[in-house]
Amino acid sequence: MSTAALIAPSILSADFAHLADQMGEAERQGADWFHVDVMDGHFVPTISLGPLVVAACRRSTSLPLDVHLMIEHPDNHIAAFADSGADHITVHVEGRENPAATLQEIRKLGCKAGLALNPATPAKDVLSFLELADIVLVMSVKPGFGGQAFIPDVLAKVRELRNQIDQTNSKTLIEIDGGIDENTLPQAREAGVDVFVAGSAVFGHSQGIAKGLQALQTATLIGQDH
Ligand code: DX5
Ligand code: ZN
Repeated sequence: MSTAALIAPSILSADFAHLADQMGEAERQGADWFHVDVMDGHFVPTISLGPLVVAACRRSTSLPLDVHLMIEHPDNHIAAFADSGADHITVHVEGRENPAATLQEIRKLGCKAGLALNPATPAKDVLSFLELADIVLVMSVKPGFGGQAFIPDVLAKVRELRNQIDQTNSKTLIEIDGGIDENTLPQAREAGVDVFVAGSAVFGHSQGIAKGLQALQTATLIGQDH
């Protein structure tokens, strides 16, 4: 059973010259979390932002800041993100033999711990860590850029995770990230997603932020009985 659907606008697609105003508009329209993509130019080819911007977001909203680290050596940086006001810190499972210590450390810092997996990474790579993860973040695009097309193949993995979470009565939330819009959201909801990250569908919407978010909120109601 999925929980109530949550929407987490990704500030990667926002206008950074007007970040507080744009976050304010999304918050007034009922955004649930803000998703903050941290990219280091190594783990992914692009560079985005670091703790200073997370701290600026912290001053702009009281909503949870959902920080997604797409960086090498995340252990060296999680304390800085926690200090900057992150509420959730998500690290990738790829290239790590055992993310358990990192997840425990994130919780010790007072944050919710998330574990992310790329489209090509199978569910089995995270199953044994679900107990330590408050969030499992399923990437539905190759990480590194906003505005890419949703990869529908990941829905089978979402279903697998949903089954495992339900069977073990776990409270881990399933979050999906990449290519979410009003058309792809219902499919992901049907597969068992709890939290929907959306960058371009909110901050890049042709009719503005509030309308973009509203369209996603309406889309969460389709397939809500699953
Ligand atoms: C991609 C990022 C996403 C991105 C989503 O690496 O993790 O959070 O902002 O952007 P859209 O919603 O435009 O696909
Ligand atoms: Zn992300």
